[in-house]
Amino acid sequence: MKFSIDNGSPAKQSCSCVVVGVFQTRTLSEAAKTLDKNSNGYISNILNNGDMEGKLGSTLLLHNVPNTTCNRILLVGLGEKSKFCDREYQSAVRSTFNRLYETGASNATLFLIEVPVKNRKISWKISHTVIVAMESVYKPDQLKSKRTNKKQQLQKVTLSTTGKLDSVTGKKALQWGLATAHGMNLAKDLGNLPPNICTPTYLAKLAVKMAKDFKLKAAILEQKDMKKLGMGSLLSVAQGSNEPAKLITLEYWGLSKKEKPIVLVGKGVTFDTGGISLKPPANMDEMKYDMCGAASVFGTITAIAEMKLPINVVGIIPTTENMPGGKATKPGDIVTSMSGQTIEILNTDAEGRLILCDALTYAERYKPEVVIDIATLTGACVVALGHVASGLLSNDDKLATELLSASEKAADPAWHLPLWSEYDEQLKSNFADMANIGGRDAGTITASCFLSRFTKEYRWAHLDIAGTAWISGKKKGATGRPVPLLTQFVTTRAIKKGCEKKS
Ligand code: BES
Ligand code: MN
Ligand code: ZN
Repeated sequence: MKFSIDNGSPAKQSCSCVVVGVFQTRTLSEAAKTLDKNSNGYISNILNNGDMEGKLGSTLLLHNVPNTTCNRILLVGLGEKSKFCDREYQSAVRSTFNRLYETGASNATLFLIEVPVKNRKISWKISHTVIVAMESVYKPDQLKSKRTNKKQQLQKVTLSTTGKLDSVTGKKALQWGLATAHGMNLAKDLGNLPPNICTPTYLAKLAVKMAKDFKLKAAILEQKDMKKLGMGSLLSVAQGSNEPAKLITLEYWGLSKKEKPIVLVGKGVTFDTGGISLKPPANMDEMKYDMCGAASVFGTITAIAEMKLPINVVGIIPTTENMPGGKATKPGDIVTSMSGQTIEILNTDAEGRLILCDALTYAERYKPEVVIDIATLTGACVVALGHVASGLLSNDDKLATELLSASEKAADPAWHLPLWSEYDEQLKSNFADMANIGGRDAGTITASCFLSRFTKEYRWAHLDIAGTAWISGKKKGATGRPVPLLTQFVTTRAIKKGCEKKS
């Protein structure tokens, strides 16, 4: 699908479908009004006959509308005008594409970016139209022997307005949407791959390939390298598996190396059986998604590199399987992390924090501006926030606020949870500096408290994406989240940096 932006009249388009919005009840958008005028009330007549009210997400396809030059006109319901916000806009765009795929249209011109959305500029609408469109065409069919996709026939999409359009801003917004969508697609593809293919070795090879394609710097630490560094915690998770663990670093230098980088650390457990604290069998296949934090780091770096943002970003990906092999950790084992702190492993299924803590210590060598880790860390986060918001915890309130505002703008919800010392007490161990679990209560917070013991040297935030990285059920698949949030966060920082430099 190719996207472009334009401005003009909906009556003068020579494409196979023009899309205009209709509010509830039967209130025409500006573009719909233009078409109605041109066709001497043809559209309002149809609406008044009761064919469409304008309910959000409803659609009505019209052929041969008088005095128009396109093959078809698609009316899309926008719901109540006063309630038309981010989600409503996205939902209208989603219905548009789903309906367009059912028609034979090979190209379409959408007059939706001119519809007012509360607190949003036209650039937001352009970016998010592209993201929703790309989402609607995505299929997790990498490994189907026949990849048929009827949706491919829609090749050209123009985002148009009857109003003014600044083409520089418009193009930037288009590029942001596309880059973010590409990053999300990579994150989805990686998440959806089966665990026999997407192994730590696979991810390491991918990083090397990405480095070539995008002019990044990739480095792979093997188990022997990690041993030298004293990463006893990370290695303890790997020892139950036959697949060797890797610590991947992927660096993007968009500015001088003197500028401190943003470091993104992604949990890359390519399959989590729970280890000796074995998980129950139901839905265990979904633990192939336990590397979605890593996937989101790959996705975000792809997006940033595609846009060539003037900023420095380093991805660190600790990756391993969590298996109950003969050499696997036993509950009660005590290991020493790279930081020197000792950990009593009371539950081998709390492995995410065990690999992240060593990666977080390793992050210190980059003298980071901030560190954000992204992990499918706790089932408790799904209990607390469901599949809507990612959990956000931080040792710095300003950073948390910045991430929340990126999340809001990117329409990729996150919710701030407290990281108070009262919770940290749940991690006490009689035998080591800490236990790797803190009991049933506040599981997401105690997991973060564990991580916070390794992040004292820098400003840090943690995103628990256990509930948001993939969907279960009939439409099982990775979501590509939180690539939009992270890409927005980095973009906003890059823009701010640019402004500081100029002034
Ligand atoms: N990868 C899981 C977390 C998870 C579970 C994500 C279900 C999404 C859905 C993680 O490694 C894990 O097993 N966490 C344990 C921690 C517990 C043993 C303290 C959990 O949440 O049960
Ligand atoms: Mn686990
Ligand atoms: Zn896990």
